[in-house]
Amino acid sequence: MVQRLLIMGPQGVGKGTQAALLSKHYGIPAISTGDIFRYNLKNGTELGMQAKAYTDKGELVPDELTNKIVKDRLGMEDAAQGWILDGYPRSSSQVEALDQMLQELGTPLTAVVALDADHDILMKRIAKRAEEEGRADDTPEAIAKRLDIYAEKTAPLLDTYKSRGLLVAVDGQGEVDRISQTIIEELDRR
Ligand SMILES: Nc1ncnc2c1ncn2[C@@H]1O[C@H](COP(=O)(O)OP(=O)(O)OP(=O)(O)O)[C@@H](O)[C@H]1O
Ligand SMILES: [Mg+2]
Repeated sequence: MVQRLLIMGPQGVGKGTQAALLSKHYGIPAISTGDIFRYNLKNGTELGMQAKAYTDKGELVPDELTNKIVKDRLGMEDAAQGWILDGYPRSSSQVEALDQMLQELGTPLTAVVALDADHDILMKRIAKRAEEEGRADDTPEAIAKRLDIYAEKTAPLLDTYKSRGLLVAVDGQGEVDRISQTIIEELDRR
């Protein structure tokens, strides 16, 4: 069965980790908008320079840029057999943009995986990642900003997808492999 998935949840919940495992399991690309911005930043592209002002502060990169990179990426050859989107959509305008793209491509979403974890656990994981990876946007201010935007703009989108019958909610706490198994079981049961 073809999987066209979103993986959603707050910062530090393990979206990237689980997206990589799902990518391997289903043989589909994991597409992270955050990773695409970081890659462009590192390589000094025009897109990277435009995004930097926003990513550094933990603010959303404007839709004109973000929607375009997603549209381009979903149109690539390796995305024809399915994909997992991590970090997109993050606002109701991005949900609308994605709906439109998928309608044009004739490839509807198959499920939306929502991960969650207690606030304390998220804080610990983010602090650990900041130490290990030294991401430019893992400063306390940028983290706080990203969490605020998540609560205000992104979390409400879960209701949208729930009402469409697409939501698969899984506990993001515990062992990485166990969580991944649970997600795959839930997806395969649909
Ligand atoms: N869909 C998006 N719309 C606008 N900006 C985005 C989007 N996705 C990523 N960005 C930009 O890239 C930055 C990093 O995003 P990324 O998803 O990697 O980090 P995050 O929010 O901390 O989540 P995680 O903890 O799962 O890595 C965001 O703060 C934002 O500036
Ligand atoms: Mg991530």
